[in-house]
Amino acid sequence: MYILGMESSCDETSAAVVEMGAGVRRICSDIVASQIDVHRLYGGVVPEIASRAHIEAVSRITAQALDGAGICLRDVGAIAVTTHPGLIGALLVGVNFAKSLAFGNGIPLVSVNHIHGHVAAAYLTEPTLEPPFLALVVSGGHTSLFLVRDHTRFEEIGSTRDDAAGEAFDKIGRVIGMPYPGGAALDQLAYRGNAAFDLPSPAIHDDTLDFSFSGLKTAALNIINAANQRGTPVDPADMAASYTKAVVQGIVRKTDMALSRVAGEVGTLVLAGGVAANSHLRTALGDLCRKQGVHFVVPDRSLCGDNGAMIAAAGYFEYMAGRRADTSLNASACDSMND
Ligand code: KG4
Ligand code: ZN
Repeated sequence: MYILGMESSCDETSAAVVEMGAGVRRICSDIVASQIDVHRLYGGVVPEIASRAHIEAVSRITAQALDGAGICLRDVGAIAVTTHPGLIGALLVGVNFAKSLAFGNGIPLVSVNHIHGHVAAAYLTEPTLEPPFLALVVSGGHTSLFLVRDHTRFEEIGSTRDDAAGEAFDKIGRVIGMPYPGGAALDQLAYRGNAAFDLPSPAIHDDTLDFSFSGLKTAALNIINAANQRGTPVDPADMAASYTKAVVQGIVRKTDMALSRVAGEVGTLVLAGGVAANSHLRTALGDLCRKQGVHFVVPDRSLCGDNGAMIAAAGYFEYMAGRRADTSLNASACDSMND
């Protein structure tokens, strides 16, 4: 069946058509309209501007996704839309558009959790992938470890207690002169520097599977500010290398612990979310999995950032589980629709 997936939780408006069924997982189209150039002027996402840009893009993007897949609305078996978590104004644009399209055309509608969507990108990367598996979601807003018991059942076993990995990359990227969002630029810059600065680990030093990025962020900012005050600014490449090393080692440490804890239940690690595009993290987790004899699945870089195809894939499994949204469907900024 064809699923139309719609995503508008932050600064990307996306619509995609994915064909899903027994033995079939195929992306027919995946159109992403990024607002990054607009938000870059302000050094971060401005929620009101994001909502307006979603309104301007959503119809055009949806028409392009259907055209690109070579199908019409009557061929769509279900519409899947991101309802949470995210920027509330941005989410509401996608949710209300999807509701009108679904109820105006008699198409079933399903609600998708954005984080579950990121994980579902892995099903499109490896069509034979099946739960249970361990999922590490690292994005602009989340850093979480999930035991994915089945396609729609996620048990969070670790998460950040403050900032997310992507947010932490973007913050340091900004202070060392990278354009917003700094994550991707920092990834490349790190190859040109030495990990000369000693920075605290984001892996909390006890037996939880939680992270904390605020101490690492503050330590890096203190080093940068003190050097500026002395009139000898830090080498941005050295800071990028040091910071990346601390983030990657911390994430690897907790993932290693998590894999050991669930070893009897799962033999696969899925890495997902915008920060899953980070080359250092992909390499380090690949090495860890090889050492542990664990199967490693990471989506193509084009599927790591926010996109409609991952929402369509997650929506398919919600649909198959029998879940349907009605006209009361709403959006929520929180991780759970009930918060
Ligand atoms: O998943 P995503 O597209 O949006 C959220 O759901 O938050 O993630 C965006 C985050 C940004 O913080 C961005 O800087 C980061 O992913 N990112 C990266 C890389 N590419 C994107 N961080 C580190 N290395 C990268 N190559
Ligand atoms: Zn995301």
